Amino acid sequence: MSAPTLALESVTAGYGDNPIVRDFSASLHGGTITTLIGGNGAGKSTLLRAIYGANRFFSGRILFNGQAIERLPPWERLKRGIGFVPQGRCNFPAMSVAENLKMGCYTLPAAMHDAAIGRVVALFPMLKQKERTEAGNLSGGEQQVLEMAMVLLVEPTLLLLDEPSLGLSPKMQGDVFTTVQQIAARGVTVLIVEQNVRGALLISDRALVMEQGRKFMEGPAAEVRTDPRIRQAYLGGNIQQTAA
Ligand SMILES: Nc1ncnc2c1ncn2[C@@H]1O[C@H](COP(=O)(O)OP(=O)(O)OP(=O)(O)O)[C@@H](O)[C@H]1O
Ligand SMILES: [Mg+2]
Repeated sequence: MSAPTLALESVTAGYGDNPIVRDFSASLHGGTITTLIGGNGAGKSTLLRAIYGANRFFSGRILFNGQAIERLPPWERLKRGIGFVPQGRCNFPAMSVAENLKMGCYTLPAAMHDAAIGRVVALFPMLKQKERTEAGNLSGGEQQVLEMAMVLLVEPTLLLLDEPSLGLSPKMQGDVFTTVQQIAARGVTVLIVEQNVRGALLISDRALVMEQGRKFMEGPAAEVRTDPRIRQAYLGGNIQQTAA
């Protein structure tokens, strides 16, 4: 197999004096989708933040395309191609959709802004229809799409998504998953945390399971999906167990 896009080697990270994620190792390969599963407070968001450089890194190594990045600030990681869409946040609610997209271009040369915005608007036509709407007045799902679009402006090769379908209707959740698949099909490596574990596993190549900050299980998504412990804990238990 080719060298991984992202290699986590015994990563320990957290906040202040508290390590939350401990000794976590994993490899993500180009163009694959990996779901990170774990209960509330397990440390999933903390791991995504650690990959982006947005919290305290204690020890271990993070290799991105073979290069150690664990001491780089977030903007340097973004420049190298790591895009992070944090859990439930609208960056600039009082600004219009068009203004938000313009903000999202800030790391790009001015001459590239229009093309970058054109690209993401083609992917999410809703953004064009609502370009004059204040971002804070978009529906939850539309705000999520805007957040994803803003990160995609800079064409990341690794996309970290924290609960992209949270609070969305089933239809919008499906749209988000389809979009993630389209992004990965273009070669982008995706690490996704999802409250809709079942939906995320269905579009994923692999799954990582975290319990209390430590890796508990990993494997092909189809295998993790049928593991009795995973069904019990994250997929609604016995009902599902008899279904397939
Ligand atoms: N900014 C912070 N400062 C201090 N502790 C934090 C901070 N953010 C999270 N924590 C703690 O880290 C632990 C893991 O939180 P984290 O947000 O990573 O969990 P999670 O797996 O993403 O949970 P959820 O499914 O609820 O989003 C929790 O005990 C939480 O209280
Ligand atoms: Mg979280």
